[in-house]
Amino acid sequence: MNINIFENSSLGSQFVANRIGKVLAARNLVSKPTVLGLATGSTPIEVYDELIKKYRNEGLSFKNVVTFNLDEYYPMEPSDVQSYYYFMHQNLFNAIDIQPSNVFIPNGEIHEHKIIKYCEQYDDKIAEVGGIDIQILGIGANGHIGFNEPGSERKSATRFVTLDEQTRKDASYTFNGIENVPESAITMGIDTILKAKEILILAWGKRKAEIIKQCLFGEVTSTKPATFLQAHPNVNVVLDVEAASLLDLD
Ligand code: GLP
Repeated sequence: MNINIFENSSLGSQFVANRIGKVLAARNLVSKPTVLGLATGSTPIEVYDELIKKYRNEGLSFKNVVTFNLDEYYPMEPSDVQSYYYFMHQNLFNAIDIQPSNVFIPNGEIHEHKIIKYCEQYDDKIAEVGGIDIQILGIGANGHIGFNEPGSERKSATRFVTLDEQTRKDASYTFNGIENVPESAITMGIDTILKAKEILILAWGKRKAEIIKQCLFGEVTSTKPATFLQAHPNVNVVLDVEAASLLDLD
């Protein structure tokens, strides 16, 4: 894994947006679609701001971009301000020229009897468009990626999951109390994520320092799902100095 450490999250976010912009511009030139795997949470927000700037100021077009989001709470209506659907439209999609038909976000309203089939189709759709070119990831305090909580298998596909207590606690601030945080979600699987051609995992701040250390250098184990990234051939870890503060890089 390549570890890239920046003075602050803004510089780290610019690095990530520049990488996405470069790949996108090159593929736009030859009229090829670019497939992006996208994350929610506070971590990627500045990256999305930078991408919007590139669209507005540098003419970078997203017309040929297809996106797949990592996860969505379940049950969850897209119009709900807590939904990842809402988050993505507020923080990125509404401000760029992406085609709505190219946006894929797990459906938090799918009927429970249809979830298994729906999840299979989500993975099939990713394969059909040629696989994810660049996957953006944040990391949860317990080492989750997407909503692959501790216990998630290396070979897991997109599926329905039960959220960890820690994850629900972390989300309780935005939901105004843990009792309002859904108990379940739909998430891309570890296997789905690891099929991406390139992965950028981002972390900012001291609160991520310990889990970053464990996930980059600890034993590979399903109790810390982000450790599975160690086996991927093309991962860029993007950290600010605080998130990197416990790494021994000599
Ligand atoms: C949620 C999301 C993850 C994200 C994590 C970290 O659990 N499902 O994809 O990485 O939060 O959130 P934050 O970036 O706010 O620290």
